[in-house]
Amino acid sequence: MSSEVFHIIDPRTFNRELLDELCEITDTSRALGKTPEGAAALRSLLADKRAMLYFTQASTRTFLSFNNACHLLGIGTSEIRDPAISSEVKGESFDDSMRTFSSYVDVIIMRTPERGLAGRAAALMDLIPRRVPIINAGSGPDQHPTQALLDIYTLERSFAGRGGIDGKTIAMMGDLRRGRTVRSLCYLMKNYHDIRLVFVSPPSLAMRNDIKKHLVQHNIVFSETAVLDDVLGSVDALYVTRMQSEWDEEEESLKVDLDDFSIGPNQLPKLNPDAVIMHPLPRGPEIDPVVDSDPRAMYWRQERNGMWMRAALLIKIFGVEEQLRNQR
Ligand code: NCD
Repeated sequence: MSSEVFHIIDPRTFNRELLDELCEITDTSRALGKTPEGAAALRSLLADKRAMLYFTQASTRTFLSFNNACHLLGIGTSEIRDPAISSEVKGESFDDSMRTFSSYVDVIIMRTPERGLAGRAAALMDLIPRRVPIINAGSGPDQHPTQALLDIYTLERSFAGRGGIDGKTIAMMGDLRRGRTVRSLCYLMKNYHDIRLVFVSPPSLAMRNDIKKHLVQHNIVFSETAVLDDVLGSVDALYVTRMQSEWDEEEESLKVDLDDFSIGPNQLPKLNPDAVIMHPLPRGPEIDPVVDSDPRAMYWRQERNGMWMRAALLIKIFGVEEQLRNQR
């Protein structure tokens, strides 16, 4: 099986073997969790571990899914969600705060509005005696590796009868410039064969060049358009994102005609009947609630997949995947 996993910071470090193994661990643990005995076995897997959830940027799903993933595995949790009630207000440095957390827990899961802080925490951990893994649960507008993992799991399972992700055409729509989920998902695409990406966005919120350069380097075919109608019939997945208005400097998102980058009753009949519709959530008006009852809508399943994929990640980080397999 694939090598040891420690910090989870940058999606570029994932290889196919590890992605496939994480999907397998996700399936195994969620199947186990269906019976009371299996759920009890899961809760004993990491009952000696504790996690710190340091979430100083708004979060509902990522926080709750990590929190519940920890509880599924018996991991105790502590949290800071508001830096105003941590000793950072007394002037304690970020590094000292991280070092303090590491004194009490076995893994630190963190989301910050600043880019790069999870990487900085990981580098700090590598210098201190009680080194604990750092998981990036969203680093500003930069990266969101664990969302990309649950997106991969959702795509793989959606295409299970059709050869998995390999060979598929995936459209990403919305605020691609500032949406970290699509940036991280693009990084994982190098692990799959014959992928085509289609970026659907207003030119002002187009995918940034750093990601495009990465795609070119890895021979991943991509195209860009502002016309959703042109791609609806040919895509296998439509990954919709919201306007990231919290990053607006000059009301960029208000200038967008969202009707052009939304899916609703007018677009559904034109969408490939085999396609899946995804969204990291929370959604804005870009997905009409009527889409929720369309069998192609995967975003609610994506949410639940996230909890199980995050549990799988913790299982892998703490190296108890063989104990899990022995429970089958
Ligand atoms: C995303 C995020 O925080 O980047 N949400 C999530 O984690 N599911 C997407 C978003 O906020 O648009």
